[in-house]
Amino acid sequence: MKAIQLHEFGGPEHLYLGEAPVPEVGAGQVLIEVAATSVNRPDIIQRQGNYPPPPGDSEILGLEVAGTVSAIGEGVSQWEKGDRVFALVGGGGYAEYVIAHAGHIMRIPDNLGFEQAACICETYITAWLNAIVLANAADGDTFLLHGGGGGVNTAALQLCKAMFPASKVLVTASGGKLARVRELGANVVIDYREEKFAAVVKSETDGKGADIILDHIGGAYLADNMKSLAVSGRLVVIGIMGGASAELNIALMMVKRQSIIGSVLRSRPVAEKSRIIADFNHTVMPLFADGTIAPLISDTLPLEQAAEAHRMMEAGSHFGKIVLTIN
Ligand SMILES: NC(=O)c1ccc[n+]([C@@H]2O[C@H](COP(=O)([O-])OP(=O)(O)OC[C@H]3O[C@@H](n4cnc5c(N)ncnc54)[C@H](OP(=O)(O)O)[C@@H]3O)[C@@H](O)[C@H]2O)c1
Repeated sequence: MKAIQLHEFGGPEHLYLGEAPVPEVGAGQVLIEVAATSVNRPDIIQRQGNYPPPPGDSEILGLEVAGTVSAIGEGVSQWEKGDRVFALVGGGGYAEYVIAHAGHIMRIPDNLGFEQAACICETYITAWLNAIVLANAADGDTFLLHGGGGGVNTAALQLCKAMFPASKVLVTASGGKLARVRELGANVVIDYREEKFAAVVKSETDGKGADIILDHIGGAYLADNMKSLAVSGRLVVIGIMGGASAELNIALMMVKRQSIIGSVLRSRPVAEKSRIIADFNHTVMPLFADGTIAPLISDTLPLEQAAEAHRMMEAGSHFGKIVLTIN
């Protein structure tokens, strides 16, 4: 099969379209013929050599796909050959065929195409699991979302507005993305390059702070995130684009009864991911099926242009998701 391969870890120039054996479907698994996959920031980190796949998962890049069921493994009864599906995979999405665990697959709603469906798993599940489930969100909470033009955070903004209409959502973004984040429904848009977000959060919340912060900057934002967090607030850290360590005032955190939650999706055990996906399918997928929210596609390129897609993501020129299609 065709698959994107790596000459060596490093820049996007090391990505090339090569050949790989079609993976063999095992018990409890399904083989999917991939029609579309999408690029996620963790793909960049894996390409650089800093985010290996969990043991047993494909070394090929790609964390989510949409396509057609092509073969069924032993013990799988809920899927049939020809089903239109989308899936979260531990790796292997940048290829003509990929293996997915039967519990990590969802049916594509009739109103969505393969390209849109390929944008849901990694970003919307991450946004929902972290900003809503782990943060124990409730309607009326104030949210601070960082990086409002990215895949995960456009998803988080859509989900907050759709699921918690009484909530106030503050979003950091930059450049031309500011206006688009406002159009998506953010109540307050903060230009993180021009403004100090902690000061804006303070004034916009009458000094109270945000109940929930979804952060992927890590070290560089820890101090300002803690300043921006309300009493009993929850800071959920899902990335370290701004460094992996920072100093924390534990006394203040204790007195303000705040929580810091760290979370990754990819390395969770298969059964745990199956439970998360079943809950997501039940709770969130109806919002896609009835058109309340739709995946935001910024650019669509053929699989062989994976290197160009990575360059686009690293330049930050996208708003929402970059899709790769496979003929
Ligand atoms: N833990 C998990 O399970 C999990 C799963 C998936 C993704 N992630 C993480 O989530 C993050 C987002 O992934 P993605 O695929 O959505 O990537 P993406 O589409 O590239 O989004 C990243 C966003 O970060 C913004 N950004 C960069 N520097 C910033 C700063 N200093 N302050 C505020 N925003 C800033 C960028 O905005 P500008 O272009 O405007 O600078 C961009 O919109 C990554 O760190 C990724 O590793 C975690």
